[in-house]
Amino acid sequence: MSIDFKGRVAIVTGAGGGLGRLHALALAARGAKVVVNDLGGARDGSGASLSAAESVVREIVAAGGEAMASGASVTDFDAAQAMAAQAVQAWGRIDILVNNAGILRDKSFAKMDVADFRLVVEVHLMGAVHCTKAVWPVMTAQKYGRIVMTTSSTGLYGNFGQSNYGAAKLAQVGLMQTLALEGAKHDIRVNALAPTAATRMTEDLLPPAMLDALKPEAVVPAMLVLASEAAPTRTILCAGAGSVEAAHITLTQGRWIGVGADAPEMLAAQLAEVTARDGESVPRDGSAQGRQEIERAMARLVRA
Ligand SMILES: NC(=O)c1ccc[n+]([C@@H]2O[C@H](COP(=O)([O-])OP(=O)(O)OC[C@H]3O[C@@H](n4cnc5c(N)ncnc54)[C@H](O)[C@@H]3O)[C@@H](O)[C@H]2O)c1
Repeated sequence: MSIDFKGRVAIVTGAGGGLGRLHALALAARGAKVVVNDLGGARDGSGASLSAAESVVREIVAAGGEAMASGASVTDFDAAQAMAAQAVQAWGRIDILVNNAGILRDKSFAKMDVADFRLVVEVHLMGAVHCTKAVWPVMTAQKYGRIVMTTSSTGLYGNFGQSNYGAAKLAQVGLMQTLALEGAKHDIRVNALAPTAATRMTEDLLPPAMLDALKPEAVVPAMLVLASEAAPTRTILCAGAGSVEAAHITLTQGRWIGVGADAPEMLAAQLAEVTARDGESVPRDGSAQGRQEIERAMARLVRA
């Protein structure tokens, strides 16, 4: 079964270099018409130039594909809307959005300015919100959409010096959880990808031996599956160096500790059982937590 994107239109943000460029090239090679978006700034988000996006468009066209460049900053909602409108005007639809644009402003939390925290949230979270909001009505109307958020192991598990980045990256998973539910009736599937790859973003963060193993090309297959017609929804795939894993946000079975004056002491005494992982589940939506809690409380009432 081959994955192809003939007749599909894709927007890839931050596609002037790194992973985004490879995502755009791969989608185009499999038949998609691609909007190559990139602000063209430095790793910390400073500066701007359309040339990075234009050069990837040239690569796609040289390989026989169709693409257009967009220099919109994902932080600018009006610009994101104009980008989506341009794609619809040229090609009539938008099937795929890969929210990939990103920057770093690393520092330990103690030393980090609030402005650096805010900018990273603005690019990663609000950038994904702006682009998703811009394509959502199009996808809803055509009853088809595939949206890939780019999260990170930092967001899922933490990384020293990246509190701003981690918060913004896990926020994209939160966005995915609800948009997957809201999009389901329109066949809009929303997933997240946590890559590990040697790019300018990681070149000084990882040891050279690791960088050699982490070819960015190895991340692309996971994106292609998440962007494909047969994509899952609400799935977090982690990909690097040829391996793919899934990350889950789980709920443990927990324990009933009651609401009495001694509840804090009961919890302290049973913390190991409350956090024990045997029998944990991946809830289908947020209401599962409340249902589990109410069911246990009701069961105790019935027994009493
Ligand atoms: N490389 C990794 O190991 C790794 C790990 C986890 C997550 N990620 C994520 O993968 C994505 C791609 O990163 P990369 O490693 O290819 O780094 P990269 O720096 O090469 O790519 C990021 C791209 O986003 C663009 N960009 C930045 N701000 C933008 C804005 N406001 N509007 C439009 N474009 C903008 C940049 O110009 C750049 O081309 C990022 O979201 C990053 O956080 C990467």
